[in-house]
Amino acid sequence: MITTLFLLSSGLSEQAVSGDGELKTYMVLLRRPEGAAFSLQSDDDGDEWYHSFLPPSTASDGPRPLVHRYRHAVTGFAAELTAEEVKAMETKEGFVRAWPDKTLSLATTHSQEFMGLHQNAGVWKSTNYGKGVIIGVVDTGTTPGHPSFSDENMPPPPAKWKGKCELAYGSTCNKKLIGARNFYAPGTPMADDDNGHGTLTSSIAAGSPVKGASLFGQANGTAVGTAPLAHVAVYKACSADGKCPQSAVLAAIDAAVEDGVDVISLSMEADSAPYYEDPMAIGAYGAIRKGVFVSFAAGNGGPGAGTVVNDSPWVLTVGASTINRKIKATVLLGNNAELVGESLTQPSDFPLTLLPLIYAGSGTNASSAFCIPGSLKSMDVKGKIVLCTKLNGSNRATRIAAGQEVKDNGGAAMILMNEQVGDSVTRPDPHVLPASHVSNDAGYFIKTYIRSTPSPTATIVFKGTVLLVPDAPQLAMFSSRGPSPQTSGILKPDVIGPGVNILAAYPTSQENTQNTPFAMASGTSLSTPHLSGVAALVKTAHPDWSPAAIKSAIMTTTYVLNPDNKGIVDEDFQTVGCFDMGAGHVNPERAIHPGLVYDIEPEDYVGFMCGLGYNDTEVSVVVNRGVSCSNRSSITASQLNYPSISVTLGWTSQTYTRIVTNVGVANSSYRVNIVKPEGVYVKVKPTILVFQELNQKLTYSVTFNRKQGVMRSRALAQGSMSWFSFSGFVVTSRITVL
Ligand SMILES: *[C@@H]1O[C@H](CO)[C@@H](O)[C@H](O)[C@H]1NC(C)=O
Ligand SMILES: *[C@@H]1O[C@H](CO)[C@@H](O)[C@H](O)[C@H]1NC(C)=O
Ligand SMILES: *[C@@H]1O[C@H](CO)[C@@H](O)[C@H](O)[C@H]1NC(C)=O
Ligand SMILES: *[C@@H]1O[C@H](CO)[C@@H](O)[C@H](O)[C@H]1NC(C)=O
Ligand SMILES: *[C@@H]1O[C@H](CO)[C@@H](O)[C@H](O)[C@H]1NC(C)=O
Ligand SMILES: *[C@@H]1O[C@H](CO)[C@@H](O)[C@H](O)[C@H]1NC(C)=O
Repeated sequence: MITTLFLLSSGLSEQAVSGDGELKTYMVLLRRPEGAAFSLQSDDDGDEWYHSFLPPSTASDGPRPLVHRYRHAVTGFAAELTAEEVKAMETKEGFVRAWPDKTLSLATTHSQEFMGLHQNAGVWKSTNYGKGVIIGVVDTGTTPGHPSFSDENMPPPPAKWKGKCELAYGSTCNKKLIGARNFYAPGTPMADDDNGHGTLTSSIAAGSPVKGASLFGQANGTAVGTAPLAHVAVYKACSADGKCPQSAVLAAIDAAVEDGVDVISLSMEADSAPYYEDPMAIGAYGAIRKGVFVSFAAGNGGPGAGTVVNDSPWVLTVGASTINRKIKATVLLGNNAELVGESLTQPSDFPLTLLPLIYAGSGTNASSAFCIPGSLKSMDVKGKIVLCTKLNGSNRATRIAAGQEVKDNGGAAMILMNEQVGDSVTRPDPHVLPASHVSNDAGYFIKTYIRSTPSPTATIVFKGTVLLVPDAPQLAMFSSRGPSPQTSGILKPDVIGPGVNILAAYPTSQENTQNTPFAMASGTSLSTPHLSGVAALVKTAHPDWSPAAIKSAIMTTTYVLNPDNKGIVDEDFQTVGCFDMGAGHVNPERAIHPGLVYDIEPEDYVGFMCGLGYNDTEVSVVVNRGVSCSNRSSITASQLNYPSISVTLGWTSQTYTRIVTNVGVANSSYRVNIVKPEGVYVKVKPTILVFQELNQKLTYSVTFNRKQGVMRSRALAQGSMSWFSFSGFVVTSRITVL
């Protein structure tokens, strides 16, 4: 695995405040008339039709240019229009819907947390390292020539590949980086990364191995992508400061589908919206309908409930967790107490002798407790270790600035404690002086020691990179939580994967003050390409599987206990559940041999959307053809053949059917085991499934009943349903009951 950056992103929408006459970029979706002479398959084919929706050209400005053409995932275009012009278009035959452009957010370079490392998994051999699969990364571009994109040992791209290579003069694609296109500024063919984010994400998905990668000598090892022999195609759709217009992202998805990628990876977010109001969900539906797997970041809006975004059932929605590595800097107090903290800066010459320890908040300046620049100048901190408080919610730059203030005033070292009670989240930052970032609990302990001791002393013991730290993986605090705002009938996020302090490729130019070709970062931006890589590995092992089957394989083979056999906790050590982490933590080794899969045809989502109460027009917008809900059996969300089950249960019982496809061993039988949600009866019929051949489908039903007279201690109950085969497969669906 490689990993990450802290994305403080949130879904910002830029709705220009404007009169009707102002030109804005609109995405316009159209439906091709039945029997139309054009096919929309090639570059100019259909342009005449597109132009027929635009206002007539005037002598002064000529014909209105199309900013983007959408032909493969969706049908339509983007153009600069006024609200009046859009209104005039609505009555034309073939018009479906139009939206003013909005901006999706990535983490910006300023919020990146630097550091680095990783480890590999034995699954690579059996999947041939993702060989032959193409991952399309829609992001800020990439860095050609970076060692992570070396094509040593790479096979040539598969024959189906139709992509293009649009890089700055002097850069070329190769057998690793097989495609690069720019949709952020159409017409300027430069998919080179001027932000850094796209280099991180594309290398996490499929970077080539780079031996001896490290950051400040820490987290050293071989940096390598999740599917090291997969090909990468990058689709630049974002500005240098990490803003991604939806119109460009949609064009990127459309092009990726056209070019022939197998997996699309999107590490960006906007607010959750009904699928028919969400061009990203609509584009993703177009992609999965053509057999392309789509993974999307769950967002960094956690830990509040209902913060998950990119939550349509046809995409894999990815949350983030920690890995089992820490870069330790332990505080040793004069009373021999040791408190674990973190720092990326690991000076080898810091003395083990105890130094005077002082609390920054003991001065007269009100802001000195936080070691804000200028606040320590009237305090005597020379040669001392200074305990500073991390401002609630402050970012990496502020944490480093606190150290700078201590250093500028002659302090020997800094201990940075969290302000918020219970806040245990620490980060290894590249501090400018010897430092240790500790939890609020540890900080409180140190403060108490200072108050109760006439001459308090301390030192910091730098322990370097420590692997196998207990309690990993933990759910990242920032990882967005369910339930899905669109329907509580689908459990979201789907899965969690590594997204905290991930080392991955980074451009050496730009704002990279460390000037190393690697960076460390955190965010669901970083967990998403890990899962895109895992999807590529599953695809290599099973080239004919649908996106839904790959998703099922990933979701039914997760784990929810850490290696100590305790439930996964968050970074404040609070137990988390399925609404927080979905099916649990990805387990690539098992995902490539799931035994059974829950498959879903793209068409099945029509009945699902009808069941959500969408009207015919709304469902038609998503699937881009006429739909009549009354003509088909609409299903409840819980009835969709999803690999997890979320039900909202009153006093009447509910029964759902599920269909499993045998992808394990031809002659095999499975027995069900239920972990019942509290206060709920769960009955499965039949309890044994006997398969005689591969790809055979069997149906079972599962009935939920509320236990009479049982008061549940929590509104949400959760459990699981696992099918065990005698040949060793375990196929688990997480259950949530509201
Ligand atoms: C990197 O790690 C190896 C052990 O895995 C160690 O022997 C080596 O000294 C480390 N290199 C650096 C620069 O820390
Ligand atoms: C108090 O701290 C602020 C910075 O937060 C600084 O601007 C100001 O000069 C300090 N005042 C004194 C008297 O040191
Ligand atoms: C810190 O901020 C969080 C939310 O941003 C808030 O819930 C909490 O109460 C704050 N803590 C303190 C000590 O101000
Ligand atoms: C469907 O809902 C939309 C609002 O999303 C509304 O404008 C439209 O009139 C409705 N169409 C039908 C056929 O009910
Ligand atoms: C719905 O069903 C009716 C009667 O079976 C049929 O006439 C009509 O064409 C169908 N509509 C659609 C949109 O399929
Ligand atoms: C499965 O079992 C049936 C009947 O027992 C047998 O005819 C068939 O050959 C077996 N298939 C495989 C692949 O072993």
